[in-house]
Amino acid sequence: MTTTTPTGLGLRDSSLPNQITEIDQKTGQKTVKMGEMIFPPRKVWIKTFGCQMNYHDSERILSHLSDLNFSLTENEEEADMILFNTCAIRDLSNQKFYSQLGQVKHLKKSNPQLKVGVGGCVSQTEGKSLIKKYDHLDFAFGTDVIDTINDMVYRTYAGEKRFSINSWDRSQNFSIETKVTHGSPQAFVNIIKGCNKYCTYCIVPYTRGKERSRKKAEVVEDIRRLVEYQGIQEVTLLGQNVNSYGHDNGETLAELLMDLENINGLELIRYTTSHPYDVSDELVAVHGSSKKLSKHLHLPVQSGSDEVLKRMHREYSVEHYLGLLEKLRKAQPEIVLSTDIIVGFVGETDEEYQMTLDLLEKAQYDSIYSYVYSKREKTRAANMVDDISKEVKGERLRHLQKFQQGIQEKIRQGMLENSYRVLVEGFGNMGGVKKWKGRTNCNRLIHFLPENNDQDLQWNWVDLKVKSTTAFSCQGEIVKIYGKRMPR
Ligand code: SAH
Ligand code: SF4
Ligand code: F3S
Repeated sequence: MTTTTPTGLGLRDSSLPNQITEIDQKTGQKTVKMGEMIFPPRKVWIKTFGCQMNYHDSERILSHLSDLNFSLTENEEEADMILFNTCAIRDLSNQKFYSQLGQVKHLKKSNPQLKVGVGGCVSQTEGKSLIKKYDHLDFAFGTDVIDTINDMVYRTYAGEKRFSINSWDRSQNFSIETKVTHGSPQAFVNIIKGCNKYCTYCIVPYTRGKERSRKKAEVVEDIRRLVEYQGIQEVTLLGQNVNSYGHDNGETLAELLMDLENINGLELIRYTTSHPYDVSDELVAVHGSSKKLSKHLHLPVQSGSDEVLKRMHREYSVEHYLGLLEKLRKAQPEIVLSTDIIVGFVGETDEEYQMTLDLLEKAQYDSIYSYVYSKREKTRAANMVDDISKEVKGERLRHLQKFQQGIQEKIRQGMLENSYRVLVEGFGNMGGVKKWKGRTNCNRLIHFLPENNDQDLQWNWVDLKVKSTTAFSCQGEIVKIYGKRMPR
């Protein structure tokens, strides 16, 4: 018999019963109970919007729910429960969620037993009004209470009607254990939550709260356990600003990376996302010395104009940023860089926009994510006049993407005839042909044909030679297959 009391992201209401799992020794049958309530096998459909943090949270939610006898379904029609994990970063992300929430209404009509919950960044700030507005919603919850999801599900099945929980976890320590629900050798590991930066355009500090880091010793033990017992070979350390990891505990990201280096069996370490202001010289040096750190760094710049950066409250200048890229490339000559760009931020002149193109030319990014500025309520920029027309924003984005495409095409051509080791992530149908795909150490995608159609290469380490390229991906051919452990 096992009982579980979730800790970490959300404090439990102690009046609620613990979850108890009993396995019948004779039949092997599992019974899950909370108090007197028995949880039969049920299916949950989870729709996730937004960043890797949100996807990781969904995985955590699913892990808790599976303790309560839920399993994942890809088909919303057969679900007993539908959960949305929402994103508020841009208006478009909001709209996608609202339109899907509307569509779920008819499912509830045909199946009144269906439960519908909404979590994530929209729910953190809007949970209460969502509940008021949409009568087919059973519960709403914020980003800092996901470890109490089973309590919410219990309350829903116990008959409690339409509630919302969006409290912040104010406990001293941010302490969790990573939960993995998939069979892949890759795991996301949350090392810091929240963001203290308050970039003027950004909603995240309001949806994810204040920065709090896990203790280094806890993260190292967590990852050691994942490697030893769950077959993990690659980890991505997650946070909105991982560069300020550990400030609250007198520790640093560079120290954490050096400690992780010593874990036998851990092959590849990635981290995301970085804020340029907090990239220390110590961290740059680790990019040079580490044997396991990915040779890819995502370093969002947002704009190539100092004046725009000031209005965005980004705390660095273009000169400082480019100096940082130079230092990184000196420390690790093979490093591959990517970034985020916002065009059409309030007051952006043609000259300021042009400066962003100049920066792209100088920085030579391997890839970029680019967006038009989207006004978010509650942020400081919401009080500035959003004076660039939709058309100008759209035109600037299209032009910038085309400009960057030219840069990327040339970079990719430089990969021709080189060999790269990839971890195979899956396959897809490309023009009627089955092709596998893998990601290099430096995060570049390469597609390739198997040796025969029945060959299963999932999660194999494979060396590939690049045979043709576009601005966004490469086609390669197999040089050597190593199997599921990274070769020494
Ligand atoms: N914490 C990360 C990522 C934040 S969200 C960071 O600081 O880099 C991911 C990206 O979304 C940001 O880098 C930014 O480019 C974009 N973004 C954030 N708020 C936005 C807004 N209001 N409008 C348009 N893009 C936005
Ligand atoms: Fe948003 Fe800035 Fe924090 Fe990134 S660093 S999450 S852009 S406030
Ligand atoms: Fe979106 Fe929240 Fe991530 S707003 S980008 S899901 S932190």
